[in-house]
Amino acid sequence: MLKNDVIIACDFKSAEDTFKFLDLFKDEERKPFLKIGMELYYAEGPAIVREIKRRGHRIFLDLKLHDIPNTVKKAMSVLSRLDVDMTNVHASGTIDMMKAALEGLTREDGTRPLLIAVTQLTSTSEERMQQELLIGASINDTIVKYAQNTKAAGLDGVVCSPLEAGMVKEACGKEFFTITPGVRFADGEVGDQVRVTTPARAREIGSDFIVVGRPITAAADPVAAYRRCVAEFLGE
Ligand code: C5P
Repeated sequence: MLKNDVIIACDFKSAEDTFKFLDLFKDEERKPFLKIGMELYYAEGPAIVREIKRRGHRIFLDLKLHDIPNTVKKAMSVLSRLDVDMTNVHASGTIDMMKAALEGLTREDGTRPLLIAVTQLTSTSEERMQQELLIGASINDTIVKYAQNTKAAGLDGVVCSPLEAGMVKEACGKEFFTITPGVRFADGEVGDQVRVTTPARAREIGSDFIVVGRPITAAADPVAAYRRCVAEFLGE
């Protein structure tokens, strides 16, 4: 079972940039848990996932699938062969789609990566959700309902803002994972993230995994920034 951890978002455009970054960590005893998103996966394909896995990293493959259940099921069964540790879908694809994703991801021997769902993207404001998407509920009620749907479909947890992790845990139980981006050091740059908090506070509120990109990837010393993040989040 995966334990609480810091996940570094490898938001790089190529394998070359990614390995240049990862080489900095080659003497680290603790191999960082990495997130591979759409940019890197679409640029380099499954080969990059296999190579990063070969180097001994745990991987969260963040492709946010959202399509009809049959298509998602088949896509997930292809992704299950990559042997990642965690992957995801959009909860708005419905409970049926999430169940299909879970079925597709489960290998013949019954094993599978963790499957989590995106509730509402943190880039979606309550105003836009209500006016463009015609969802009349509040953003918090929507997030809680999507998290409950995710649990009902049998998935393992959700991606949400660290500030929402507490209410998700309250609604879905403490075993239900929360994976939270939007984390910044107290003395760091916020960038384009809006609802942010620190690693230590994220843990207090209920995050199981924090996804951290630029505070580590753009730091003058990424290894030191990673170590600081782990120390603050895990209290080690
Ligand atoms: O650089 P930064 O720490 O902001 O990176 C956060 C990572 O988490 C990025 O890969 C971003 O795409 C992702 N993410 C997010 N908010 C979400 C879902 C994913 O910031 N709601």
